Amino acid sequence: MPPSTSVQDFQDIVTSSDRILALCGAGLSAASGLPTFRGAGGLWRNHDATALATPDAFEDDPALVWLFYAWRRHLSLTVEPNAGHYALAELAKKKENFLCLSQNVDGLSPRAGHPEDKLRLLHGSLFDIKCFDECGYIEKNNHKDPLCPALEPASSVNSSAAGSGGSHKLPLLDPKNPVPKIDVKKDLPHCPQCKHGLLQVDAWVRRGPIALMLVIGTGAQVYPAAGYVGRAKRMGARVAVINPDPESAEGLDDRDFFFQSDAAEILPQLFSKALA
Ligand code: OAD
Repeated sequence: MPPSTSVQDFQDIVTSSDRILALCGAGLSAASGLPTFRGAGGLWRNHDATALATPDAFEDDPALVWLFYAWRRHLSLTVEPNAGHYALAELAKKKENFLCLSQNVDGLSPRAGHPEDKLRLLHGSLFDIKCFDECGYIEKNNHKDPLCPALEPASSVNSSAAGSGGSHKLPLLDPKNPVPKIDVKKDLPHCPQCKHGLLQVDAWVRRGPIALMLVIGTGAQVYPAAGYVGRAKRMGARVAVINPDPESAEGLDDRDFFFQSDAAEILPQLFSKALA
């Protein structure tokens, strides 16, 4: 059986749901004028945006990737949050047990007043500047635009640019010993900050059954974000997908909802009863 498309039934479900998890992606900001990653608009200067937003691309051509990010910072600062960001922010304020996982780095949910403790920026922020060499340097909320003259949006500058470890004398580091079995998740060091963030999300998910999982403007293809949808569904959550692409309804059943619409247009309507 296909998912429900009834706005009225969904309004009742949101109103009565106590624990709500939301996963947002680039589609939420589309109506503000920001391009998505995949599909139309997913190209920047003929480069695939998903391939540029990677550490490998940065290592290959730092100037090109800096320009890509400078362009995205500039664009994000010139647009405004839309009605979808505001509706989500209001729902977050209204519901005590609400958590929004956003893959967006554009700063629009924070600017719409989404409470900080109910928003996890899974992919960071365009306005937090972090050292690539992991020396630990991070500068939060830097809205300077341009960051330097070469990244001036109107500039015609093109591309082409510009280890660590302890000394433990552990036997397993002796090349004469066989390579030990290492559990990548448990045994290797991970960024304490990201890990802490995801542990907090996991703790929130485990705290109790999730009544409703909102999947807004995302292809839900990128992990770890994507994993939360299946997990919530397995834990009994109804899933509501808000996305103009019919393929995004795949895997939904008759307990779920699908709204094939622009998030900015339909979210205020979907949450109107819960926010009344
Ligand atoms: P995608 O570009 O993969 O997907 C955007 C989704 O939004 C698509 O499913 C569209 O159908 C949908 N969409 C488009 N316009 C919409 C609208 N007006 N209202 C609602 N939905 C709309 O973007 P993400 O899923 O966010 O990671 O991509 C996830 C991650 O992939 C990004 O955060 C980025 C990229 O690699 C990093 O940069 C680390």
